[in-house]
Amino acid sequence: MSEEIRTYAYDDESLILALRHYFGSEQHYHEHQKHFYRSPKKTFFIGFIDSAVAGYCSLSKGEIQDLHTVPCFRNRGIATSLIRYIQARETVLTLGTSNTIVESIAKKLGFIYYLSRGKYNYFRWEAKGDH
Ligand SMILES: CC(C)(COP(=O)(O)OP(=O)(O)OC[C@H]1O[C@@H](n2cnc3c(N)ncnc32)[C@H](O)[C@@H]1OP(=O)(O)O)[C@@H](O)C(=O)NCCC(=O)NCCS
Repeated sequence: MSEEIRTYAYDDESLILALRHYFGSEQHYHEHQKHFYRSPKKTFFIGFIDSAVAGYCSLSKGEIQDLHTVPCFRNRGIATSLIRYIQARETVLTLGTSNTIVESIAKKLGFIYYLSRGKYNYFRWEAKGDH
C-alpha cells in the first residue's frame, strides 16, 4: 500500500478534478466547489492510497477544517497522516469538531482541548521548540 499527501491551493484545477469523483453526485460536487471559492485563503490536503483519493482536509488561518476520509479507507490512518503532514509544516494549529473519532485523533497527536462552542469542541496544538 502506498500513501501520499499532496497540497493544493483552493483554486487549483487539479484539486477540483481530484475531488470530483469523491463527491459522488454532480450536485454535491458543485456545492463543494462553491465552498472552495468562498474560502480563498484555504489550502487543501488530499491523501491518496495507491493513487486513489482516500481523504482530505483543509487549512484556513491555522485551523484544520473539512477532515473527511472516504468510508472504504477509514481506520487505515489517513486522517492521522493528513494532520501529521500539516503539523510538520506549521507551528500553531486549531481544530474544532463534534466528532469523537476526530477528538481522539487530535489528542493522540498532541492537541489540547481549550474551548466548547455549541456542539463543537476546540483543540489547539503548538510545535515544540525543535520544530
Ligand atoms: C473521522 C474520520 C475523518 C477519521 O478518519 P480515518 O482516516 O478513519 O482516521 P484514522 O484511521 O487516522 O484514525 C482513526 C482512529 O479512530 C479510532 N476509531 C475508529 N472508530 C472509532 C470509534 N467508533 N470510537 C473511537 N475511536 C475510533 C481508530 O482506532 C483510530 O485510532 P488509532 O490510530 O489510535 O488506532 C472519518 O471517520 C470520517 O471521515 N468521518 C466522517 C466525517 C466527519 O465526521 N468528519 C469530521 C469533521 S470535523
